[in-house]
Amino acid sequence: MPNRVLVTGGAGFIGSNFVLRSLQANALSVINLDKLTYAGNPRNLESIAGNSGYEFVRGDIGDAELVRRLLEQRQPNAVVHFAAESHVDRSIRGPEAFIRTNIDGTFVLLEEVRRYWEGLTGADRDQFRFLHVSTDEVYGSLGPSDRAFTEMTAYAPNSPYAASKAASDHLVRAYHHTYGLPTLTTNCSNNYGRFQFPEKLIPLMILNARDGKPLPVYGDGKNVRDWLYVEDHCEAILRVLERGQTGQTYNIGGWNEKPNIEIVQMVCDLVDEMQPRPGVSRRNLIAYVKDRPGHDRRYAINAGKIERELDWKPKESFETGLRKTVRWYLENDAWVQDVTSGSYRQWIATHYSS
Ligand code: NAD
Ligand code: TYD
Repeated sequence: MPNRVLVTGGAGFIGSNFVLRSLQANALSVINLDKLTYAGNPRNLESIAGNSGYEFVRGDIGDAELVRRLLEQRQPNAVVHFAAESHVDRSIRGPEAFIRTNIDGTFVLLEEVRRYWEGLTGADRDQFRFLHVSTDEVYGSLGPSDRAFTEMTAYAPNSPYAASKAASDHLVRAYHHTYGLPTLTTNCSNNYGRFQFPEKLIPLMILNARDGKPLPVYGDGKNVRDWLYVEDHCEAILRVLERGQTGQTYNIGGWNEKPNIEIVQMVCDLVDEMQPRPGVSRRNLIAYVKDRPGHDRRYAINAGKIERELDWKPKESFETGLRKTVRWYLENDAWVQDVTSGSYRQWIATHYSS
């Protein structure tokens, strides 16, 4: 198992959960390279700020010189690549940042990692891993009775976000095939849990329900997503890093398909239970709104390969995971205030001005 990992995008939702998990339970040391876009929040990692096994570096994966210097000076034996623009709605409004980071950035990172890996020798070279964290959205949309995505499903990305992730997956594949870079790719379904930026469905609904604001459900609310608790995703990534076969891809999912409207109703009921307002049902806040353009109808992941080959299974049920998540957002108002008020951006500007 690698013990010195360069994580990209480790201040974002999944990345920060992964960094905390890796330091606490797996005794990995982590260098976290993150640009701190609107989605990156170093406060997620405040609890490990003084930890000798953790280093934060603010920077762009597209900065070849910086990436080269980090690799040469810190000598990691793995790279776990989370950094990306990740929100479909933003990709529809402004695809350019998605091309820059998800495609160009991944390319720069791959080039620098290849160069570094080619300079390694012996066990260091054999044991090195580049793990690319990707999404099920690269496979496109399923009909109601289509089989769930497997690792053999043809790519058919539909949004600029999905297309940019698909392109990065192809680059990773090519770097293994052409140069022998020891890559691993994971394609995961929708995650939920603490630290998710409240532009995504579940945290947005929790906070709007809390505040008595409308709950905007796109289209007929019957689009289906396959939800996985973020800590299960992090465990799966660690398992792939430890035992995955280089050159392979692994689908990760929670066997938990649900239409959006059901998720929103569950959130409403949990908020009613945890922060009751007499005579008020949060379900009354649900508002059907204009659909997202090109909105994929259904995603479903067949996670059979990672279960069979790497003995990984999700631990959290959707009911318990959602309950924990709703409670976390309701109990962490300072975090919510920060990311919604923009005060954390100010803090970043002063704290990380160099
Ligand atoms: P996020 O948007 O919460 O975080 C992304 C992080 O990357 C942020 O900290 C941001 O500052 C950083 N970043 C962005 N551009 C960068 C750049 N050019 N250089 C360095 N850092 C940069 O995303 P997330 O939801 O945590 O997703 C992480 C990864 O997992 C992404 O690659 C995403 O495609 C993938 N993924 C996400 C989900 C999901 O449900 N959220 C599901 C499957 C796969
Ligand atoms: P999202 O969290 O943006 O993830 P993704 O688009 O990557 O699946 O959205 C999850 C689902 O919820 C998706 O079908 C779009 C829908 N949705 C809404 O209905 N309303 C909203 O306000 C948002 C953000 C999403």
